[in-house]
Amino acid sequence: MPEPIPVAALSEAEAREELAALAARLARWDQLYFQDEAPEVSDGEYDAAKRRHADIEARFPHLIGEDSPSRKVGARRAEAFAPVTHGTPMLSLDNAFSDEEAAEFDARIRRFLRLGEEVVAYTAEPKIDGLSASLLYRDGVLVRGATRGDGRVGEDVTANLMTLEEIPHRLSGGGWPELIEIRGEVYLGHAEFAALNAAAEAAGQKTYANPRNAASGSLRQIDPAITAARPLRFFAYAWGELSAPFATSQTEALDRYRQWGLPVTPQARRVEGAAGLLAAYAALEAQRPFLPFDIDGVVYKVDRLDWQQRLGFVSRSPRWAIARKFPAERARTVLEAIELQVGRTGAVTPVACLRPVTVGGVVVERATLHNADEIARKDIRVGDTVVLQRAGDVIPQVVEVVEAARPPGAAPFVFPQTCPCDLKTPLMRETTASGAETIVRRCTGEFACPFQRVEHLRHFVSRRAFDIEGLGEKQLRAFFDEGLIRGPADIFRLARDTDALDALRQRDGYGETSVANLVAAIEARRAVPLDRFIFALGIRHVGESTALILARGYGEAAAFRTAMDKVAAGDAEAIAELDAFDQIGDAVIQAAGAYFREPHNLRLIADLEAELMILPVAPPRGDSALSGKTVVFTGALEAMTRDEAKAQAEALGAKVAGSVSRKTDLVVAGPGAGSKLKQAAELGIEVITEAQWLERARS
Ligand code: IVH
Repeated sequence: MPEPIPVAALSEAEAREELAALAARLARWDQLYFQDEAPEVSDGEYDAAKRRHADIEARFPHLIGEDSPSRKVGARRAEAFAPVTHGTPMLSLDNAFSDEEAAEFDARIRRFLRLGEEVVAYTAEPKIDGLSASLLYRDGVLVRGATRGDGRVGEDVTANLMTLEEIPHRLSGGGWPELIEIRGEVYLGHAEFAALNAAAEAAGQKTYANPRNAASGSLRQIDPAITAARPLRFFAYAWGELSAPFATSQTEALDRYRQWGLPVTPQARRVEGAAGLLAAYAALEAQRPFLPFDIDGVVYKVDRLDWQQRLGFVSRSPRWAIARKFPAERARTVLEAIELQVGRTGAVTPVACLRPVTVGGVVVERATLHNADEIARKDIRVGDTVVLQRAGDVIPQVVEVVEAARPPGAAPFVFPQTCPCDLKTPLMRETTASGAETIVRRCTGEFACPFQRVEHLRHFVSRRAFDIEGLGEKQLRAFFDEGLIRGPADIFRLARDTDALDALRQRDGYGETSVANLVAAIEARRAVPLDRFIFALGIRHVGESTALILARGYGEAAAFRTAMDKVAAGDAEAIAELDAFDQIGDAVIQAAGAYFREPHNLRLIADLEAELMILPVAPPRGDSALSGKTVVFTGALEAMTRDEAKAQAEALGAKVAGSVSRKTDLVVAGPGAGSKLKQAAELGIEVITEAQWLERARS
């Protein structure tokens, strides 16, 4: 498994592809978690995937689609219960994974409220690992209970919630608003969970993976009598609709809940400042093993409700609260071998082959070891017992070696000098432009290395390139090994090679239909737009968006080819022309020159040209409302960093300037904007807020 590319280094094409892959994975996990109550991954892995998705979206905001997971909360509801539309949506919480992130939460709040030295008080509450529920009380009487569902519409589970002993049908005391929707967590304690599973096992029934799934399954029973038989419990911690305010702080709200007879976590504390947040986390972490129920972190909430009001929400979570999660689980296992994995460009990644082990609910067999230096630094040897972790990262990590468990004779790992392919091509340490060695090792075999060739073919047929269906990794590898497809042009030759196709039809697993489908999929791509063609070539540093810039810049395949040949030959004029394209820099110029000097590549292109019709690409239409406009950002931005704002503006065809002048078309002003705002007003330049900017950027 290769190391994930840092978000900052992702090309747009890679980002697009990864967003789609992550969205699909998250949707599947949501389904398993919410509907089937059978999670396949740990919370840590789920959170990591969600976080990476959010990070990528933050960097490429224009890739945020209508159906992005970031716009959803939870998953769809089941069909068995009547739908309940929540008066105010039931949102989720943003996560923090470290002390630094918790401190940054405090800093962010103070910046947002512009508090200066003033200390912010928070509540720190255990994050109970159950499922959230909404209880609607009218005149103190429970009239409706619902699950969260997708956050907007949940399920009416009134009858079931009424069976919980801890949920009062009538509030005690007094002073409640005429209408109040109390929110909290339905959960199952450890002892109750163990008893429930033991009974299920004795009866030969399916057991639950964890208390949260058991609570969810128990609450969402069609027959309330079954729910009644399950010892579900409840903690109240929030509210939705209110006919009138009933408190001025979260602490006061929790006190009122207690007075009304609602259970509130006894561990909830009021703390002050970042130091208070960290101390509360440490305290709960220490208590965690002794608590009678599962918690997966600490929820921090700004205590003052007027401040909560001012802080408001960012898309799907409140700005005034955050969940500080406990770190993901660790496990030990034996490292059985270290394999090398070769990527498309020859970069070699060492991969740990592990004795399968469950970490946080998933079986792990492979983990990236990143590079030779990492292996040396951690002194990882074959035969070692290693500590694995799945943390704020989708890919499992080898954290360290358990040296005491090292078998005698385990030798330090010697990084192979040659590629694992049959050719045993030498591996080289990559050097930077200045001649310094980097940690990346590459197979120098390029087109001779079968691994690189297969990876190259995979890139060529991938969705964003030629998008040929039916040529998956397995097929490609098989066709490659048999010599049916050795290079990209062979794909198109195969489609018209009647003998080869006849032979394919005779094979196991292949029939008339699958061969016909494959041929149709290939033929459908014989006419290909120039940008896809360029992207598919796999020139280093030429991702999908760069390919599009090149295609638009040159317009036609012939012009592109002529220009590239000149760039390869060092023609100053051609290089200057390429350099003048937006967003094209030295790296692309160098890479293009090298690519078009390589005889193998020229042959590959010539072969392809004989098979394809490469369609011209029109220059940008320039019809984005922002294209060609000069924009100035000033003041504090909330939803994005300056760099992101700039990237987003440029992606929409706008130019970003540092100062306001007559040439400025638009000023985006956040809190704290000063002189630039004044200048804009003097010059009569349109000024909009960050939120308005985001709206325009999306439309
Ligand atoms: S406050 C607007 N407080 O965590 C957010 N949530 O990821 C309102 N949870 O859906 C939630 N303990 O199911 C809050 N003390 C607590 C919580 C808590 C557990 C759950 C809840 C929520 C999820 C957010």
